[in-house]
Amino acid sequence: MNEIKIFCPATIANVSCGFDVLGVALDAVGDEMTVRKTPEKGIRITKLEGQDLPTATLKNVAGVAGLALLEKSDYDGGFEMEIYKKIKAGSGIGSSAASSAGAVWAMNELLGKPFTTQELVKFAMEGERLASGVAHADNVAPALFGGFTLVRSCAPLDIIPIPSPRELYATIIHPQIEVKTSDSRKILKTNITLKEGIQQWGNVGGLVAGLFTDDYELIGRSLVDHIVEPIRSILIPAFDKVKSKAVASGALGCGISGSGPSIFAFSKGEEIAEKVAQAMREVYQNIGIDYEIHVSKINPLGIKILE
Ligand code: HSE
Repeated sequence: MNEIKIFCPATIANVSCGFDVLGVALDAVGDEMTVRKTPEKGIRITKLEGQDLPTATLKNVAGVAGLALLEKSDYDGGFEMEIYKKIKAGSGIGSSAASSAGAVWAMNELLGKPFTTQELVKFAMEGERLASGVAHADNVAPALFGGFTLVRSCAPLDIIPIPSPRELYATIIHPQIEVKTSDSRKILKTNITLKEGIQQWGNVGGLVAGLFTDDYELIGRSLVDHIVEPIRSILIPAFDKVKSKAVASGALGCGISGSGPSIFAFSKGEEIAEKVAQAMREVYQNIGIDYEIHVSKINPLGIKILE
């Protein structure tokens, strides 16, 4: 096989309480990429459609992640990549992660899978370092593993895949503004109190336990973030209103997707997730803010081959 076409899913990082450690892959929205082997060494981005992003290898997250893989590989040739972006940059649903993870996943397939998924996460994190200044793994891990993932540790890297309850749906609304992850990290405080820590790790444990045991109520009451959300939500139009309407419409919980400005809510079942979408939509319609909205199942597999 010399060429592969893939779907690279959008992802929700943090999932409220799990700043930089929890993430989940989505089904309803994602990029497409075509990757092919070439005799020339190195990585070339030959096409990039849908977003105005650099195609120079060292300035493109797919290029940088791909080079990180090539450095550890004994393959003698190179790769060409075509990237069809459907996920907007700065939307908070893992646009850079989709490209970074897609690049290394496709290269690994074409090379006969010499690397483990955990190793691919490590390479893809180099793309995240370029995009945000920090090599966080909470978007690339779910894109590569599928479902929910916990980044138990970054050094050494230790990713724990977490099962997803079958009826869990995500509703994601993206007010059409761009928030750069690097900017929304700068506004965070660097110290937390012991009291805040206790609340946060209680919720992370509760959320992980709820996901393992299909306990939707426990998932809902654990979707709380006392540390990051109060600061970042200031950058998101009508965040409190969207959240309260989502919860009033039956969502289990609601929070900021990644570094925002997208807002996500989880619901039990598609019907409730659609009701939540309607409630979120109405908030932005009433105040005249453009938005995109998605209702998505949890994507258990992550990146997939497209025929
Ligand atoms: N954990 C990262 C952050 C995710 O919140 O900054 C960015 O998508």
